[in-house]
Amino acid sequence: MGIPDIIIAVDGYSSTGKSTFAKLVAREFGFTYLDSGAMYRGVTLFAMENGMIAPDGSIDNDELKNAIGRLELHFGADGLYMGERRIEAEIRTLEVSSHVSPVSAIAFVRNWVDERLHAFSEGGRVIMDGRDIGTTVFPNAELKVFMVADPQVRAQRRYDEMVAKGETPSLEDVMKNLQERDYIDSHRDVSPLRQPEDAFVMDNTHMTLHEEVVWILGVMQGKFGLLEAPALSC
Ligand code: DC
Repeated sequence: MGIPDIIIAVDGYSSTGKSTFAKLVAREFGFTYLDSGAMYRGVTLFAMENGMIAPDGSIDNDELKNAIGRLELHFGADGLYMGERRIEAEIRTLEVSSHVSPVSAIAFVRNWVDERLHAFSEGGRVIMDGRDIGTTVFPNAELKVFMVADPQVRAQRRYDEMVAKGETPSLEDVMKNLQERDYIDSHRDVSPLRQPEDAFVMDNTHMTLHEEVVWILGVMQGKFGLLEAPALSC
């Protein structure tokens, strides 16, 4: 018996390596990967480009609510698109990162994103990462993973990622942004980040990607009684 057509929910704080892990699992086991954080980043970019976020960071909720109906976001094979335009690079900048948590704390934005995530997941065999996938978006997901890692390691990872893309942040700013997002994400009223009770917790501070995949394979074998392990290519 192979791995069933389940939904795998991966939650955790920013830069704990959720998307890297989820993409790898998707590739190894033939799942569709959906990045829910990218959707919030897409909404944030839309709000920024349409002048709905003031220089002091305040958001014009009414304007955004009126305008969100004209926003179209979808995933292509190479990431997120706004209509015809691929926006992967734009949504990963520090500027978008610094506004995304307050945008994602708005209830109507969360409903808008959740509806799309459900539509994108029809048919199953999906691995989705975020902050509230196992608690709110898919509370009945067959497998839930909650990822944690040392804060210094997380900041360094995000920093390296940004430098690799040609940005020039300071490690201090990246750390500050992570701490602010941790706080907002876990203290907001609507669907705060918390560990689902039935999640398997992975601390990947000292794990290689190969070890992460072996780890989830072990979890799946235990949970679904798989006798045969698929061959891994990583
Ligand atoms: O995973 P990420 O850093 O790309 O996510 C960007 C922001 O989106 C993050 O600060 C919190 C928010 N988010 C959320 O509130 N719920 C999710 N399911 C995913 C992301």
